[in-house]
Amino acid sequence: MAFPQTRMRRLRASAGLRGLVRETDVRAGQFVLPLFVTEAEPESSGGRLGREPIATMPGVDRLSLVAAVDEAKEAAALGIAAVMLFGLPAEKDAHGSGAWDREGVVQLATRAIKQAVPELLVTTDVCLCEYTDHGHCGVLREDGTVDNDSSLELLAQTAVSHARAGADIVAPSDMMDGRVGAIREELDGEGFAEVPILAYSAKFASAFYGPFRDAADSAPAFGDRRGYQMDPANGREAVREALLDVQEGADMLMVKPALAYGDLISAVKRATDLPVAAYNVSGEYAMVKAAAAAGYLDERATVLEILTSLRRAGADTIITYHAKDAATWLAEQT
Ligand code: PBG
Repeated sequence: MAFPQTRMRRLRASAGLRGLVRETDVRAGQFVLPLFVTEAEPESSGGRLGREPIATMPGVDRLSLVAAVDEAKEAAALGIAAVMLFGLPAEKDAHGSGAWDREGVVQLATRAIKQAVPELLVTTDVCLCEYTDHGHCGVLREDGTVDNDSSLELLAQTAVSHARAGADIVAPSDMMDGRVGAIREELDGEGFAEVPILAYSAKFASAFYGPFRDAADSAPAFGDRRGYQMDPANGREAVREALLDVQEGADMLMVKPALAYGDLISAVKRATDLPVAAYNVSGEYAMVKAAAAAGYLDERATVLEILTSLRRAGADTIITYHAKDAATWLAEQT
């Protein structure tokens, strides 16, 4: 039946009707808030103690351990499900040994947050790029290419050290082949069979990570990441990556970035039964903040629309720097 019998506007006539038939909802319990924790005391330039603003990500700071615990408490109070920890070590080396150091910055932050706010989930990013002096996500061969297989053991060791510190979820973002299987095996062997793996399955070599690399000081010293991260032109390959991670024992899958990759969030959701996370990355955040600061966009409406669209695309979980603002706005709405 078509017009005039069918009138789509009938169910849009009031807030009550719109609410009754709304297909998608977004809530703080679906959010993961990324935190940047620094080992060196942050240079607070007139800001709050233990916090160093990140110029390219207004509203996001590099945090001391103490400030990270405060931030975790704020997130938990807002109903946010989890934080995702990124570490900025005081020193870097060729192998990224700070990544699996028992007293490394992520390990210390994990222990401190789990002790202060046990109900908040701690997810850790498992990668070497913040810890290697060359800034690549694995160890290098003599010719400067990243050596997949010898990076696996280091990544697995890193994941175990996070689990030992109390991480609830480990999230490998390095894009080495076989890393989910290697991490699963090492976790199981070390007594962490119950720690889930959130795999950055379809992680693209994206320009949208620019602000993050400033924040985490993790830009590659030479070359780029196209030899291991995915080509933004490839969608079927993203599904293939996801299915391989399922085979290797992933518990959750991720698509990253999010906004330009909604088709792949949907494709991965349809292709598997696993929960899917979307990473609303630093560049996506920076664009909204810049446009809002210039008065070009209404920040609140834009952010809530973006988060809703990611849910609609199929994301069960959203990793976003907007998490605290969005949780606050959502609480005001109800
Ligand atoms: C580490 C990592 C990166 C991001 C998450 N984990 C950077 C990169 O791959 O270069 C990006 C997150 C963001 O942009 O918000 N490999």
